[in-house]
Amino acid sequence: MMASAMDHLKRYELFGWDYAQHNPPSAVAIRWYLGHAARTGGPILELACGTGSLLSEFAGAGYECIGIDLSGGMLTLARERLERLPPETAERVTLITGDMADFDLGRQFPLIVLADNSFRELGTHQELEACLFCIRRHLAGDGVLLLTERRFAPASYPGGEQEWPWSEPLVDPTTGAEVRRRIRIRVHREEMRLEGVMIYHSVHPDGAEDTETLPFTSLLLAPEDYFPLFGAAGLTARLHVGYEDREDDGEERMLCFVATPS
Ligand SMILES: C[S@@+](CC[C@H](N)C(=O)[O-])C[C@H]1O[C@@H](n2cnc3c(N)ncnc32)[C@H](O)[C@@H]1O
Repeated sequence: MMASAMDHLKRYELFGWDYAQHNPPSAVAIRWYLGHAARTGGPILELACGTGSLLSEFAGAGYECIGIDLSGGMLTLARERLERLPPETAERVTLITGDMADFDLGRQFPLIVLADNSFRELGTHQELEACLFCIRRHLAGDGVLLLTERRFAPASYPGGEQEWPWSEPLVDPTTGAEVRRRIRIRVHREEMRLEGVMIYHSVHPDGAEDTETLPFTSLLLAPEDYFPLFGAAGLTARLHVGYEDREDDGEERMLCFVATPS
């Protein structure tokens, strides 16, 4: 059975803190985003901003930013992150609860960012298209969209499956529980989709234990599948890899699309 949109968000609602700890942006990624911001200027719109790790970098570099995310839990974590920053930095950031495939801010931006696999949170081609149409409407005439995604590597799924072992435990900062997670993914090639579960095992301070099994699903997109989507929304994209201006070598995992209005 396919995971519904709300199932999809539940792992962020419950374990967003774990996402933030496992996925901090790398120094090379931050340099790449800030390099683009230096060329375009702000204000910057980040879609699916989550816990605000990039927003805080942009704000720290002096840019006004707006972050949109559908998960209240992730936005709470973003607010907590902002509270740890100097007030003059934090006040450059506005957080909005919203759907990246259906939003209207009534203004345009020189730089829009959709980072690190968040585009694939959208479960259908219609939603991907709707998201890019919204982006196009919000992009200034000479604006830039940065969209980064991990390459789907079929070789990582022998027999169509992959399973990761239990992670080292991390402590939930709110409950004090020790939490480990494992991930199982199955690839459905005929539907060009993958389905997975994230299993979280928590040991609470009173010794009680529980397990949450949270499903997710995602479309499988090859690098060449993105270009018609950009084109249909009135955007022209170039593909670089590895947070550098490198041409695609077919191997590097991090795909970095730089798109401008056609
Ligand atoms: C891979 S995480 C990215 C998090 C972010 N880059 C960070 O540093 O925390 C994906 C994010 O997409 C958000 N999301 C999923 N579907 C969404 C939608 N339709 N509109 C807006 N945000 C969405 C999730 O809540 C989650 O915060």
